[in-house]
Amino acid sequence: MRMVDIIEKKRDGLSLTDEEIRFFVRGYVDGTVPDYQASAFAMAVLFRGMDSRETATLTDAMMHSGETIDLSDIPGVKVDKHSTGGVGDKTSLVLGPLVASCGAKLAKMSGRGLGHTGGTLDKMESVPGMRIALKESEFKDQVKRIGIAIAGQTAELVPADKKLYALRDVTGTVESIPLIASSIMSKKLASGSDAILLDVKFGGGAFMKDIKQATVLAKTMVEIGKNLGRDTRAILTDMDQPLGFAVGNAIEVIEAVNTLKGKGPKDLEELCIKAGGILLTQAGIVPDETEGEARIEEAIRSGKGFEKLCEFFAAQGGDVRYLEDTSLFPRARFVHEVKATKEGHVERIDCLAVGLSAMRLGAGRATLADHIDMSAGILLKKKVGDAVKKGDVLCLALTNKEGVGDVLKTLEGSFVLSETEVEKKPIVRRVIGREV
Ligand code: URA
Repeated sequence: MRMVDIIEKKRDGLSLTDEEIRFFVRGYVDGTVPDYQASAFAMAVLFRGMDSRETATLTDAMMHSGETIDLSDIPGVKVDKHSTGGVGDKTSLVLGPLVASCGAKLAKMSGRGLGHTGGTLDKMESVPGMRIALKESEFKDQVKRIGIAIAGQTAELVPADKKLYALRDVTGTVESIPLIASSIMSKKLASGSDAILLDVKFGGGAFMKDIKQATVLAKTMVEIGKNLGRDTRAILTDMDQPLGFAVGNAIEVIEAVNTLKGKGPKDLEELCIKAGGILLTQAGIVPDETEGEARIEEAIRSGKGFEKLCEFFAAQGGDVRYLEDTSLFPRARFVHEVKATKEGHVERIDCLAVGLSAMRLGAGRATLADHIDMSAGILLKKKVGDAVKKGDVLCLALTNKEGVGDVLKTLEGSFVLSETEVEKKPIVRRVIGREV
């Protein structure tokens, strides 16, 4: 078999055989297929697509390109949750403790944040002492003992995706549904959970710009998961504005704490209640989502969810005093107010611009080697649907850097105002893969 023939076949719009797909994945991992052929292949897939059999085979080949984790010695249904990436997305830090406090077992492996969407691991590390590199045995013990662990993926997990995703990132081939679906699902399947909930974002700050495209991606992933024997469901959620008010690291942890204490932003709380209802159903803890949602609301009201957050951070070495008293987190030296220059109603907030601004203020990294300033970020003061008067503060920019005038300008421009009133819409628009 020759890689060039496989590339040409896909370029001409034909379906590849399972053997051809496995030949590519094996060859790319062992180095016999060079980067230039892998990029030509990825571009051919981007233009020509893959059918569901090809996508499933690609996922399976990638999943088995390295080690897989066996969670079967942990009793009960193990659940996992994944977001396709959003700005201000601290959902895992709220949802994880909530479902664990209701008896679910959440075993989650996460990647690092790169570009405009920060990673959960980075946010967790804003709490001193917090360890995200857990040995497999530690990871499993913790899930068994307290019902939740969130750790970094080991280097041995899905090496094919590590190489291919990095290549796609620099060859304009990220936005392909079969490539995104196989990348995400190969990692989720290799991490060993029985049930998976995917949070597929759509809107300005997401890979999928509209709900139609996001639906196709969600259905593709749900089908892959089901074909490989896992209860996989997806929610489609709005990313036409950052989630919650905080975009950064320490400030997102503070917002997660506030949400677990019932004092969080409405959109984040609504997302966690809905997603929690689904996860508890998948875990077999409740008969239906309505009952699941009621349990999650109760876990917020009673403080059980917050207690679980503290237990989870303590188990991974985190200094829980920071969660109990969030004023201990270091503050950024400068707090700039970004003010509205005209009046109107917020129609949308450009997530990409907000995410990139947060990065330029120090909160994110452009390359994996970059250092993150945990205290930097953006605090929104207005959200979609809010009325704005000239001179109102739209958001606060927190930074230790000097000379950020152009970032403040970008932030002001990222609030798109309408002259007429704007309706506030629910954050979860659709659920896919629900068993009825
Ligand atoms: N997230 C992933 O893990 N892979 C993709 O291809 C896109 C988003």
